[in-house]
Amino acid sequence: MAYETILVETKGKVGLITLNRPQALNALNGQLIGEVNTALDGFEKDAGIGCIVITGSEKAFAAGADIKEMQSRTFPETYLDDKFEPWDRIGQRRKPIIAAVAGFALGGGCELAMMCDFIIAADNAKFGQPEINLGVIPGAGGTQRLTKAVGKAKAMDLCLTGRLMSAQEAEHSGLVARIVPLADLMSETLKAAEAIASKSLPSVLMAKEAVNRAFEVTLNEGLRFERRIFSSLFATADQKEGMAAFAEKRKPDFKNA
Ligand code: HXC
Repeated sequence: MAYETILVETKGKVGLITLNRPQALNALNGQLIGEVNTALDGFEKDAGIGCIVITGSEKAFAAGADIKEMQSRTFPETYLDDKFEPWDRIGQRRKPIIAAVAGFALGGGCELAMMCDFIIAADNAKFGQPEINLGVIPGAGGTQRLTKAVGKAKAMDLCLTGRLMSAQEAEHSGLVARIVPLADLMSETLKAAEAIASKSLPSVLMAKEAVNRAFEVTLNEGLRFERRIFSSLFATADQKEGMAAFAEKRKPDFKNA
């Protein structure tokens, strides 16, 4: 597959997608979102891949959906032509996805980062939902995922004023898992991705599913779900291997089985 708006690489068991429209600060047009999905389809099918990383450039993870592509759209076009379906598919992946964010993650860029399972931010990262400055609102989950991540007060502040939030503020408010110096962003993110990819994939997929379930159901339903899938992992050879390796003081050799 020849990609025009992203770069796609495999680094050991990690699949790396780099958004690559530098002339537009990685503004997310339809082609780019389509190419991200094609790359994700490939990584999801590839049994050798255990974790995926999405990143941008040092200046911009992504400065939002492509405003120039959207500006002349009418209501019926926007509503009837389901442009959001490919965005939704990014948020519904089974394998873990880390967003490595440097520079601007604004509007759809912030929403794309929040569709990933967690965000590692460079110290120059800036997050925001500035759609209000354009006469619209976030449209790819910003009002929902940001509110769940940082709470009502800060989500309202960001969505209503359109102001940007520093990496430090984003970490303090729970949007970002860790901050690293810009120069270390990729090495630290790949280290985290490799660590995840070295685990037993069934347990990784189930951990992701169980954490995500916390956003959908009541506590008791979530606890029941967790208990059932915790128990199911005892049907895997990797559970036997993981616990035997601990007892024998050696590294586990997981087979994803
Ligand atoms: C299209 C964009 C863009 C965007 C930047 N560019 N952001 N093009 N869509 N979202 C283009 C600029 O037009 C410019 O192209 C080039 O990238 C460099 O940008 P500058 O503005 O010159 O850079 P700078 O002065 O450094 O300012 C950076 C910035 C600013 C603060 C990030 O670009 C900015 O405010 N961008 C828009 C941010 C935004 O509103 N995002 C939300 C979009 S709506 P030229 O050709 O002039 O050099 C959205 C809705 C999501 O995301 C809904 C889901 C579908």
